[in-house]
Amino acid sequence: MENVFSELKGKTVLVTGSGRGIGKSIAEHFAAVGANIVITDIDEATAATTATEIADRYKVQTLSVVSDVSDEASVDALFAKISETFATLDVLVNNAGITMDGLFIRMKTEQWKKVIDINLTGTYLCSQRASNIMRKQRSGVMINISSIVAMGNPGQANYSASKAGLLGLTRTLAKELAPMGIRVNAVTPGFIHTPMTDKIPEKRREEMVSHIPLGRMGKPEDIAKAILFLATNSLSGYITGAVLEISGGLTGL
Ligand SMILES: NC(=O)c1ccc[n+]([C@@H]2O[C@H](COP(=O)([O-])OP(=O)(O)OC[C@H]3O[C@@H](n4cnc5c(N)ncnc54)[C@H](O)[C@@H]3O)[C@@H](O)[C@H]2O)c1
Repeated sequence: MENVFSELKGKTVLVTGSGRGIGKSIAEHFAAVGANIVITDIDEATAATTATEIADRYKVQTLSVVSDVSDEASVDALFAKISETFATLDVLVNNAGITMDGLFIRMKTEQWKKVIDINLTGTYLCSQRASNIMRKQRSGVMINISSIVAMGNPGQANYSASKAGLLGLTRTLAKELAPMGIRVNAVTPGFIHTPMTDKIPEKRREEMVSHIPLGRMGKPEDIAKAILFLATNSLSGYITGAVLEISGGLTGL
């Protein structure tokens, strides 16, 4: 089992929303084992800084692309740049996601649509383009970042629906794409310390941590390590259509 991740060296990995937070940590973990990384984010500054940081630190090739995963033309432009720069696309991590919380009875249709467009349609758009490359290679791995909130959480009807939708998409793509040599899995993180959860008031955060059996919030690297496992054929080559919960034992909020 020496250097189990050596197969990822020189591979091309696309992580959406990787300017910061969990996506950035995933990108760093792949770079640490020698993969070349496409950093893409709607935020130009964080995408560029993260891509430079990773290239300097891990001596891998990075490509930074500003793109909005919910915009079809922007996703097409992203994939055109990837094809111009790299010969293959081996791993896609659909990580870009947002919250726009509010009680259901007061939820605006705009708020509903925005979250579904980015979290669910964005994954559809990127996965479809990636599958067109991967099916020609007859190999590839996709990993979708869902959430334990897929099980339902007050104030997050839009987010919960988007994350539950990702589970159906994952299981369906796993079945459709398996004959083409493509594996598709999902992870459901619990409560992870990132700029997304920094917005939650301190008191509410403490209360949430008190329900976590392992007694702490997750760190972005807790997610990144599981993603490396799911991307490595020698470790997880027989796993597709699976949902891996990474929540310190928290099963609901
Ligand atoms: N933090 C948690 O506790 C937690 C728990 C479960 C699931 N998740 C999921 O993990 C993923 C990453 O979350 P995070 O906590 O790192 O959040 P974050 O807000 O720190 O990072 C999300 C990144 O996505 C980018 N982004 C937003 N909209 C985009 C768009 N339209 N196109 C491209 N990029 C876009 C943001 O600019 C940001 O860099 C999300 O899908 C989130 O739903 C997070």
